[in-house]
Amino acid sequence: MLIVFIISILLIILSVAYYSLKYGITPTPSSPDAIRAIIEMIPETTSGNVLELGSGWGSLAIAIARKLPNCHVIAYEISIVPWLVSLIFHKVMKNNNLIILRKDFFKESFEDVSLVICYLYPGAMKKLKDKFEKELTPGTIVISHAFAIPGWTPQFTKKLNDLYATPIYFYKYGSDDLS
Ligand SMILES: C[S@@+](CC[C@H](N)C(=O)[O-])C[C@H]1O[C@@H](n2cnc3c(N)ncnc32)[C@H](O)[C@@H]1O
Repeated sequence: MLIVFIISILLIILSVAYYSLKYGITPTPSSPDAIRAIIEMIPETTSGNVLELGSGWGSLAIAIARKLPNCHVIAYEISIVPWLVSLIFHKVMKNNNLIILRKDFFKESFEDVSLVICYLYPGAMKKLKDKFEKELTPGTIVISHAFAIPGWTPQFTKKLNDLYATPIYFYKYGSDDLS
């Protein structure tokens, strides 16, 4: 029995490590303060499809779905263990407007989306910039926790009251602020 438990824990650790190395980021969740700040930044008028790119354990995706009951929230997560755990939370919380898909978001379409939220890493933001500029409709809001989109100027930035004064960037694609 103990051996089964130890092997299961090892497999979980190996799986998380494998996807973290392959995709360049661990499934670190946004802190409660960051989630609160992001939720406050979401415009009340948001409608239509909303994406969370890399939803980890699901806490931010669930908070977004609760803030926007009339929107269709699509969360993408590639790492199996956090994705499975997020499905359990999702089942308990029962948000009918949220789906959490185990997919690489770079392979999915960003067309017909009104809001994109992410907490990733600099390399992904560089790659996303090109995808955003090809696929997003002007007026789409992008909220990025911690990492800026290179070459874009945020409409505003909120700083968290933490050790690093972590920024959360608010962009409106196609506004005059883009360089
Ligand atoms: C820092 S975590 C953020 C988790 C969650 N968004 C939050 O704020 O609590 C980033 C997540 O993005 C996922 N990820 C990275 N690249 C991805 C990709 N191309 N497709 C889907 N998920 C990805 C990682 O597996 C990781 O769980």
